[in-house]
Amino acid sequence: MVEIMKANNHYYTPEVDGTGAIARQLGMRHNVILVAEQEKKVVGFVLGTWDGARAFLFKMSVLPDFQRRGIGTMLVKEATRKFKEMGAVTIGLSAADGTGGDKNNAIGFWEKLGFEQIPARLMINFEIDELLGG
Ligand SMILES: CC(C)(COP(=O)(O)OP(=O)(O)OC[C@H]1O[C@@H](n2cnc3c(N)ncnc32)[C@H](O)[C@@H]1OP(=O)(O)O)[C@@H](O)C(=O)NCCC(=O)NCCS
Repeated sequence: MVEIMKANNHYYTPEVDGTGAIARQLGMRHNVILVAEQEKKVVGFVLGTWDGARAFLFKMSVLPDFQRRGIGTMLVKEATRKFKEMGAVTIGLSAADGTGGDKNNAIGFWEKLGFEQIPARLMINFEIDELLGG
């Protein structure tokens, strides 16, 4: 998964995107983490979570050589099926908006799957200790 993120230039922070984080994520039962395999090689993944009210996709990536073959669509649909089983009635996501360059802009992909852009902002505090005053 890390290699796929790196290949798509959206591996950002080891603490958030790295193998240790993925191992923790795999242990949390409300997460949905699916990989697509081709000849025993992982070529794509989707990663999201269900908080009891909302299903949300946080990250997905398909190896460049395997894009535009329907793998992304299959991963999103299968994750959606799992979230629906958990009780979800909507599914949201945080999408790269092109800040990573044209190659990292997947808005067209999501719109094709019926996702709409809404007037919301995704914000993040990178200084968690400062927020706590320490
Ligand atoms: C976005 C991504 C996951 C899509 O996976 P994929 O396996 O290529 O998607 P699919 O083959 O199921 O694509 C279905 C349709 O979506 C559209 N689409 C796919 N990628 C697109 C992109 N980057 N921009 C615009 N439209 C796109 C295409 O119209 C495609 O239909 P087509 O085959 O007729 O061209 C993949 O391109 C990727 O990993 N991109 C880099 C990382 C990234 O942006 N991740 C998402 C962050 S929110």
